[in-house]
Amino acid sequence: EKGGFDHFMLKEIFEQPRSIADSMRGRVQADSGTMQLGGLRDYLDKLAASERIVIIGCGTSWHAGLVAEYIFEELARIPVEVEYASEFRYRNPIIKEGDIVIAISQSGETADTLAAIELAKSKGATIFGVCNVVGSSIARATDAGAYTHAGPEIGVASTKAFTAQVTVLTLMALAAAKRKGTISESLFRLLLAELESIPAKVEKVLQAADKIKEIAYIFTYARNFIYLGRGLNFPVALEGALKLKEISYIHAEGYPAAEMKHGPIALIDEDMPVVVIATKDSSYEKIVSNIQEVKARKGRVIAITTEGDTHLPSLVDFTIEIPKVHEVLVPLVSVIPLQLLAYDIAVMRGRNVDQPRNLAKSVTVE
Ligand code: M6R
Repeated sequence: EKGGFDHFMLKEIFEQPRSIADSMRGRVQADSGTMQLGGLRDYLDKLAASERIVIIGCGTSWHAGLVAEYIFEELARIPVEVEYASEFRYRNPIIKEGDIVIAISQSGETADTLAAIELAKSKGATIFGVCNVVGSSIARATDAGAYTHAGPEIGVASTKAFTAQVTVLTLMALAAAKRKGTISESLFRLLLAELESIPAKVEKVLQAADKIKEIAYIFTYARNFIYLGRGLNFPVALEGALKLKEISYIHAEGYPAAEMKHGPIALIDEDMPVVVIATKDSSYEKIVSNIQEVKARKGRVIAITTEGDTHLPSLVDFTIEIPKVHEVLVPLVSVIPLQLLAYDIAVMRGRNVDQPRNLAKSVTVE
């Protein structure tokens, strides 16, 4: 049932070209420049007209929400707030009529997310769900939504669910932007075409698995890790750090790279591995200077770079290349090497990768 892989997690990492494609199937027609999300049809006007979106989720689903915040604001120009469901539900959140709440959950059974939905509903919000399990409690509690079609995710560490969530949330943002008229026809078509190219690009990163394993070997006994990214790669840094801590039990922290100078830079020395997502996009120059700050303090840098970048390899200790991707879609590809790195380190440390200690696949307790 693991399809020849040693663990479900590795199988699920390698399934991503397919699960991303499945999450777009029947929804995206790049040739004709069209798309539709059946589960949103009756609510698309409401989404496009909303003055505020609140996204709720936990763990990896919350990270997908942070990615969606950038995409919704950039394309649809709707202000977005992303909240941990567990915090949202214990405050007295301000929800107005017309507000949209998007609940993200792989399992559809997370207790905090479900309770947050009920609270938002009681205050008059319209609830959209992004779930992977059809008929789950959260899917049933929402007014509308779009399923991710990642297929069953068994490994406790979420991998293919994350990329499926980001895919579906991107489609929601594109649909809202199109309806609102905040996206040009050419960018809309370009992003649909770019989306269709993602599975092949993910496949290409997976082919670098052996190189990633060699890097993992070198850092197997590190005690701490820092992950840095800017813009859309900031939530990817958080996600990379979460993967590493939950399955290898190594302490890891993700930061927006520019925050380093406000404290975490004090941690950098020759024993501190720093994973930097430094793809060629609008914040490239800035992240290069962040890397220089880490190198000046003898930190060891593993950089995720864009194919063909000839500058960074001379600056850092290790590079892992990913294909060029449109900036809006970069998390779908830049997260893949981080999933593999965490997996390899955990395996080398002899951890129970699919069922890490103290964790359950769905957290149905408060
Ligand atoms: O099923 P959900 O998406 O609601 O689960 C949310 C979190 O419990 C989950 O993402 C958790 O953080 C994972 N173990 C992360 O890999």
